[in-house]
Amino acid sequence: MNLPLSDALKKHSRQTHDNVDTLVLSMEPFASIENYSKFLQAQNAFHEVLKPIYENTSLNLRIKGLNSLSRLEQVAMDMQDLKIQSMLVDETIPSPNEFESIGWLYCSEGSNLGAAILYKEAQKIEFTSTHGAKHLSAHKDGRMVHWRQFKAKLDSLELTLEQRQQALKGADDAFSFFKRVIQQVTYTEKP
Ligand code: HEM
Repeated sequence: MNLPLSDALKKHSRQTHDNVDTLVLSMEPFASIENYSKFLQAQNAFHEVLKPIYENTSLNLRIKGLNSLSRLEQVAMDMQDLKIQSMLVDETIPSPNEFESIGWLYCSEGSNLGAAILYKEAQKIEFTSTHGAKHLSAHKDGRMVHWRQFKAKLDSLELTLEQRQQALKGADDAFSFFKRVIQQVTYTEKP
């Protein structure tokens, strides 16, 4: 029998997640304000790609409340707090189809779980949900409650086998895009 979509996405992405997690930690995002600024620039590039996905009309009909979940605005406020600009990403901006977009959403919403750990680290360098680390704050319903509700919405989508495969591919693409932007912000020198 088919696993629920959220379980299939988790199983499919486990190794990739752990690679991204290691990569993010290796850039030591909370070791200095400069490193945290780079991390924010990567988050900004990621959430810019996600914004139209969260606003997609067809997906909003299938996933209730989707358009309220984009975190681009919070990332922008964090960048304002730190007085930093977005970085021009030397990447083709992905434009996933509707079903690949589901995998992007899985990746983005799930990243809010790991954000609990990152938020604690951010607090150690004085960034909080009101200054500099808004985008890492918990959803108002609580991280776990929101995540369970979101997964339930994913699991209730009726997808063909092919569409499900596209969702898995979308998750791969999302993780790998994030990985590439982290590498870029980390290794690109300021002009
Ligand atoms: C240093 C960076 C990261 C750490 C330490 C971290 C840690 C974690 C942890 C501990 C969980 C599991 C929470 C739980 O089940 O209670 C989790 C889940 C998840 N994280 Fe990360 N994470 C990191 C970065 C990311 C990034 C950058 C992304 C995506 C761009 C991401 C996507 C996800 C997803 C999709 C899940 C949900 C897995 C599931 O299906 O249960 N994480 N993360």
